[in-house]
Amino acid sequence: MDKQKQIVEMFDEIAPSYDLANRVLSFGVDVKWRKEGCIKAIGRLGKEKNLKVADLACGTGDMILHWQKYLGEGCEFVGIDPSAQMLEVAKKKVQNASFIQAQAQEIPLESESVDIVSIAYGLRNVCGYQEALKEFYRILKKGGVLLILEFTHNPTPTLFERSAKFYTQKILPLIGGLISKNLKAYQYLPNSIEAFASTRELREELERVGFVKVWSKSYSAKLSTLFLATKE
Ligand SMILES: C[S@@+](CC[C@H](N)C(=O)[O-])C[C@H]1O[C@@H](n2cnc3c(N)ncnc32)[C@H](O)[C@@H]1O
Repeated sequence: MDKQKQIVEMFDEIAPSYDLANRVLSFGVDVKWRKEGCIKAIGRLGKEKNLKVADLACGTGDMILHWQKYLGEGCEFVGIDPSAQMLEVAKKKVQNASFIQAQAQEIPLESESVDIVSIAYGLRNVCGYQEALKEFYRILKKGGVLLILEFTHNPTPTLFERSAKFYTQKILPLIGGLISKNLKAYQYLPNSIEAFASTRELREELERVGFVKVWSKSYSAKLSTLFLATKE
């Protein structure tokens, strides 16, 4: 089976316990990272009403709930994810949004049709993620904003950052494995972080695709990084 198919099947398997595992493993701090991302992206866009938002790798819909909290009236929300089971959870949890089963490498939306594209902890799972960045650029309107939240690879960790890495590499898979009863899925998480781009590499890729005003900020011993970029 190809790697991308295996990854999606893994998310299908852990979908029922995904939200619980997420909150426990992040100690709830992901809520702060998501909130800051939304507020900064809206500030950069300079408007908050009548916008179209596409959330890629939407999973169980958490990021859409955040957008709905911070955006104004008349906004349209679409969640896109290839995992049928993650989408099932999202549809029960999130009102006033539509959902499409699709991959980020081939987004079934028209060019220059959305104001905000977001992808939270999803890009790592996209095989050939550079194709997805091109798709984000294509579907964004001119002046539109891309928000990425991701666990990037840290090639030169300080002593403090190494202890945080110990948590993600050794402790997190055990707790996630216990909650989901799927150890393999949570062993995949640290491996996928190590195999993914560093913050610098991802910033360079975004610029290569054509994005401008590429900005990033790392949180919690550089475990999570927020990226914002604009299509000019
Ligand atoms: C760690 S979850 C993140 C879910 C959600 N964005 C969140 O913040 O909780 C990763 C998601 O990426 C999705 N995914 C995997 N491969 C993908 C692809 N090629 N394109 C888009 N999404 C993908 C999975 O199905 C899963 O829902």
